[in-house]
Amino acid sequence: MWDQIWTDIRVATAAAGGDGFGLIESAALAVDGDRIAWIGAAKELPAAPQQLAREVHSGGGRLVTPGLIDCHTHIIFGGDRSLDFDLRTQGASYAQIAAAGGGIRSTVAQTRHLCAEELALAALPRATALLADGVTTLEVKSGYGLDVGTELKMLEAARLLGQRLDVEIVPTLLALHALPPEFSNDRAGYVDRVVAELIPAAAAAGLAAAVDVFCESIAFTPAECARVLESARAHGLALKVHADQLSDLGGAGLAARYGALSADHLEYTSEAGVAAMAASGTVAVLLPGAYLMLAEKQRPPVAALRAAGVPMAIATDLNPGTSPCTSLPLAVTLARAQFGLTAAEGLAGVTRNAARALAMSDSRGVLATGLRADFCLWDLAHPRELGYWLGRGGCHAVVRGGKLRGNAS
Ligand code: NIG
Ligand code: FE
Repeated sequence: MWDQIWTDIRVATAAAGGDGFGLIESAALAVDGDRIAWIGAAKELPAAPQQLAREVHSGGGRLVTPGLIDCHTHIIFGGDRSLDFDLRTQGASYAQIAAAGGGIRSTVAQTRHLCAEELALAALPRATALLADGVTTLEVKSGYGLDVGTELKMLEAARLLGQRLDVEIVPTLLALHALPPEFSNDRAGYVDRVVAELIPAAAAAGLAAAVDVFCESIAFTPAECARVLESARAHGLALKVHADQLSDLGGAGLAARYGALSADHLEYTSEAGVAAMAASGTVAVLLPGAYLMLAEKQRPPVAALRAAGVPMAIATDLNPGTSPCTSLPLAVTLARAQFGLTAAEGLAGVTRNAARALAMSDSRGVLATGLRADFCLWDLAHPRELGYWLGRGGCHAVVRGGKLRGNAS
């Protein structure tokens, strides 16, 4: 006897192929423990639901999708950067603000003096908003510490956030984000410190699943990033790259060369970068919130990524500087409106392909027997609506690991 059966639902499994949504009308979904025990058309159930499960829930005809996966966030930080945004709307550029001591460095100053509990507390309302719009798995990066102690403190804060909320946190050490003020005249010295101390410490503490680097003219060179990726790989950590956001330094190619799980942003990625990603199986993570807020004009090469068969994920990039976006369905709408993704690519971007960007496809990202029972019930008529509303998520209820979240009914 199964624990639960959900009936009177329409399921978009997010499985590849078919109509792109994996839509099953008049579906049923059975849960045993934290796993999906059965999923399909209700008429194919082997017996009446009451005979198969202890609890029978009606979904009221609602749409069900996999729990959403936000695979790129910087949700842990002190303060905010509303002043930066104000300056940008008056004409200053991201790079100019960074050069003048604003930007990432100002968030670093506001992050360093908070303890892990305070950082988790500051992130709580942001994370609560993401969860209310359907997120069940949340990647969280460090990167606003820029010293060993604060970077580890940020990862600890990410862990605490996962204890407070009904969500699975996937921590990433963003080892190269900006040059800290202490090393203004010693770039190599900082990279040495990251390789010799930061990565070994994070790996030894078991606080990070992956290491990320920001490969950009205002951040770190491909050679500096390569050193850090090499060290991360030697410590058995997965790799990610902030690539080609503001210029083409070959970040996508670098990510591919190291077998990174994902290359993220990609506005300036070349054809060669796309081909390299296709060959290495690196996921393209598109971040339309940052594109919008930086008033960027150059779009990521979506048609080339699509043609090359590179899986595309979509994330909020939730961060104070460039993407204060606390809704993953909103990010899907922005990706569709700004980058021309199809509705099916939108759904895959926050489910199947986002799982792949976190190396979690064996447990989640689609709804199938044996995978985690993480799913959302939506007040939406069709999965096309997931990336249609501009600021209305439409999430009615969430089941994570077989448990109904909160007190929704
Ligand atoms: O993904 N590109 C680098 N990192 C963040 C921005 C961080 C910040 O400006 O605080 C991003 O957009
Ligand atoms: Fe980012």
